[in-house]
Amino acid sequence: MSYIERAKNSIMNTYKRNEVVLVNGKGSYVFDEKGNKYLDFTGGIAVCSLGHCPDEVIEAVEIQIKKLIHTSNLYFTIPQIELAERLVKLSGGNVKVFFCNSGAEANEGAIKLARKYHRKKGKDRYEIITFLNSFHGRTYGSLSATGQTKFHKDFEPMLPGFKFAQLNNIESVKSQLTPNTAGIMLELIQGEGGINVCSEDFIRELKNICDQNDILLIFDEIQTGIGRTGRFFCFEHFGIKPHIFTLAKGIAGGLPMGAIIAVDKVAESLEPGTHATTFGGGPVICSAAIRVVDKISEEVFLKEVREKGVYIEEGIRKMKDKYPLGEIRGIGLLRGVELQMDEPAKVVELGLKNGLLLNITAGNILRLLPPLNIKREEIDEFFEKLVHTFDGVIK
Ligand SMILES: Cc1ncc(COP(=O)(O)O)c(C=O)c1O
Repeated sequence: MSYIERAKNSIMNTYKRNEVVLVNGKGSYVFDEKGNKYLDFTGGIAVCSLGHCPDEVIEAVEIQIKKLIHTSNLYFTIPQIELAERLVKLSGGNVKVFFCNSGAEANEGAIKLARKYHRKKGKDRYEIITFLNSFHGRTYGSLSATGQTKFHKDFEPMLPGFKFAQLNNIESVKSQLTPNTAGIMLELIQGEGGINVCSEDFIRELKNICDQNDILLIFDEIQTGIGRTGRFFCFEHFGIKPHIFTLAKGIAGGLPMGAIIAVDKVAESLEPGTHATTFGGGPVICSAAIRVVDKISEEVFLKEVREKGVYIEEGIRKMKDKYPLGEIRGIGLLRGVELQMDEPAKVVELGLKNGLLLNITAGNILRLLPPLNIKREEIDEFFEKLVHTFDGVIK
């Protein structure tokens, strides 16, 4: 029996998987069991921030795994302290970190924290305003926060206390405010929803609303954070620091980790026993994340991410004369290209045959998330393969 048949017999059918079995990877490339090579422009959906099997991560894991693999969070470990210190510094100080294991888990914690902050002040404020087309995860809290009914279908009832507004429409936010509003939660660039970028004015106005009403501003930086947009945190582009933000995906170079970061006055509302996770912030994963964070936070690295993002945007723009492409959106190496062809899914299918891993989200948005350390010549190879793929789809 082939691996694909064995997989179909044994693994739940929850993903529209490509029929490929990957066995190893290095840098921007992965290889399947038959030896075929693919240039990975999905980056594990923003996870493989330093490419596949980065030397830094391997080295850090090899060293730490021989020292201490796990200890309960009833004790401190040096890697956890050192990672937290770095994140505090990169956040501009006066914040605290909580480590967990995934994006959904980080958002769950952020929602709990927002409610707890108000309860601690004796206020029964529990409503969270989120946005249409957002994506915050698949657990009940994060799913309830997600503003796309297609993900809710057949899993209802969703949790109470979530209200949805339109992105970049401040009046729509105001219409959802009530005396019970605890927080406003959003992605600065909606990833899964189609690479929809928030306007600076909108974020500034949200911040004003939050400041005037003691509402917590919560950014989901799970896809946009850790250098993806060419700043360590995406909020730096906007010059606005939220009260709470969440991280996951690229933080540990492919290993599972999530984090909640909150300003001190909010963070201190959680006391011992109010929130916890068994595996969060384990020493092995924290050692890996330290190396990833150190690399990505270098200004020269971030500058290159911004430049490569522009290079990709310009390269795609040149293709617009020949192929039915609409808007090109995004910042840094989080880019979306609107495919105006009849069967956009064919681009992924044919890309695979041409040795290129691609992802489509929101129906027809080609989402580009290459490793942040991708090389220029690899981007040129991507252009060639993409043109070849478009030619095959459009012929
Ligand atoms: C913005 C955003 N939030 C939350 C999540 C959920 O993260 P995870 O799949 O690690 O639970 C994702 C995953 O795609 C995401 O893009």
